[in-house]
Formats: sequence, structure tokens, C-alpha cells
Amino acid sequence: MDSMQTLQQYIDQSSRIVFFGGAGVSTESGIKDFRGVDGLYHLKYKYNPETILSHSFFLRHPEDFYEFYQDKIVQPTLTAQPNAAHCALARLEELGKLTAVVTQNIDGLHQMAGSRNVLELHGTIHRNYCMQCGQAYPLEAISQADGVPHCQCGGIIKPDVVLYEEPLNDTVISQTIQAISQADLLIVGGTSLTVYPAASFLDFYQGSRLVVINLDITSYDSKAALTINGKIGEVLGQLKL
Ligand code: OAD
Repeated sequence: MDSMQTLQQYIDQSSRIVFFGGAGVSTESGIKDFRGVDGLYHLKYKYNPETILSHSFFLRHPEDFYEFYQDKIVQPTLTAQPNAAHCALARLEELGKLTAVVTQNIDGLHQMAGSRNVLELHGTIHRNYCMQCGQAYPLEAISQADGVPHCQCGGIIKPDVVLYEEPLNDTVISQTIQAISQADLLIVGGTSLTVYPAASFLDFYQGSRLVVINLDITSYDSKAALTINGKIGEVLGQLKL
């Protein structure tokens, strides 16, 4: 049996599927990943992108942070549409077979495809708030700002995304652990699994069917019942659902 047939069989036989993904899920929608061959971390900047996307850098250099964030993260996302991977996962939830999408992505494409239970480990670009008065702002407040976006009260508006040095949301962590520990099939895709604590949540999986779908090899390939080296949109798009 080839890999696609095995994946189809696993899916047909499961009813508590959890998908755990990262930036590679959105590359087929035209959003660059971080560590893949064309990823953002290979670009040359005045500062390295992991530094730019850190809490202390945001506080010290909001202009440089927003230049990068606007250019590389917000603007490419504004026109992006869900791809076949997002759509297949939304369909699996609709069929009552998938309980949660756990994502490190902040682009909101899973929800745009129709997924409802999306656990966003690293927050979302769609929520923003004033650091001074807490006022909430939509993405437009960022995407249409020239330079650093400010609140009416004068405070700086910060995206509700988890920057390096910042903790993950406790509720999202417990929902993630609960979903993964109860899953009968865990599909991991489009993630390098190099960022913690996000990657560590996979260890809560108790089942025997771990599937990894990724272009590059990952440290979890050896634990997987099935690994597929391919584009996740092409792979999930072939499923008969
Ligand atoms: P990475 O950029 O580290 O990894 C993306 C992985 O997806 C790579 O292994 C690619 O080979 C693979 N990939 C790319 N396109 C693919 C496709 N179409 N199909 C299958 N695989 C594909 O992204 P993440 O693992 O999400 O955090 O990175 C984790 C975190 O690092 C991000 O959430 C972000 C970043 O710094 C923060 O900003 C806090």
C-alpha cells in the first residue's frame, strides 16, 4: 500500500484527529515560512529575524519591528487565501472526524477555510491591543498604519502574537494538551518542530498513529508511523473526504 492509501485508511478509521502545523501549511497560499529553503530567516537584515520578533526588541525598536512585521508578515497575509490543506482540515472537522487544529501560524487562514476549533499557539495578527489602555484593534489598524501604530490614547498598539521571550497563553496550552492527549490520529505538517514549547506538546500524544507530512526531514520522523515528504496542500488535497 502506498503512503497516500495508508493516510486515507488512517483517516477513515479515526474520529478524534488532531492536526498540528506550522508555517509550511501556508506556503502554498503564498506566505513564506521561516526556516524552509525560501524562508524569512534566510533573508539578510540589519538584525536577525528571531531577534526582531522578540519582546525586548519590540520595546526597544518598535520602528524596526514594525518595518519587518508589516513588510514580511502582515502585507503578504492580506491577500492570501486558504489552500487545499486548510480546506481539507476544515472538511474533516465538519465531518466530525477532527477535533482540533493546533497551529503555530498567526495568519488566520484555517478559520478563513472554515475551521472552528483552531488553537493558535502563537496568537494571531487579527487581534491587536493598545499597550497602555488595552483598547482592541483589528488588523486594519496595523496594515494601514504608516510606521508604528498608535492608539487614540497615545499608547503603542501591539499585535496579539507571541514574540520570542513571551509566554504562550495558558488556556490555549491546556486545550492543546487535552486535544492531543485524546487524539486517535495525530497529523503533523509544515513545521520544522524546532520551536519550543510548541513542539513539546506532541509528546502528549498517546496513540500509535503519528503522521508527519513535511518537505524537509524533522526530528519526529523516526517516531512516526507514516512520513510523507511532500507539499501538504497537494497531499491533503488528494484525500477523498
Ligand atoms: P518553519 O519555517 O520553521 O518550518 C516550516 C517547515 O515547513 C519546514 O520544515 C519546511 O520544509 C516545511 N514546508 C514548507 N512548505 C511546505 C509545504 N508546502 N508542505 C509541507 N512542508 C512544507 O516554521 P514553523 O515550524 O511554523 O514563531 O516555525 C515555528 C515558529 O518559528 C513560528 O511560529 C514562528 C517562528 O519563529 C514565532 O514567531 C514565535
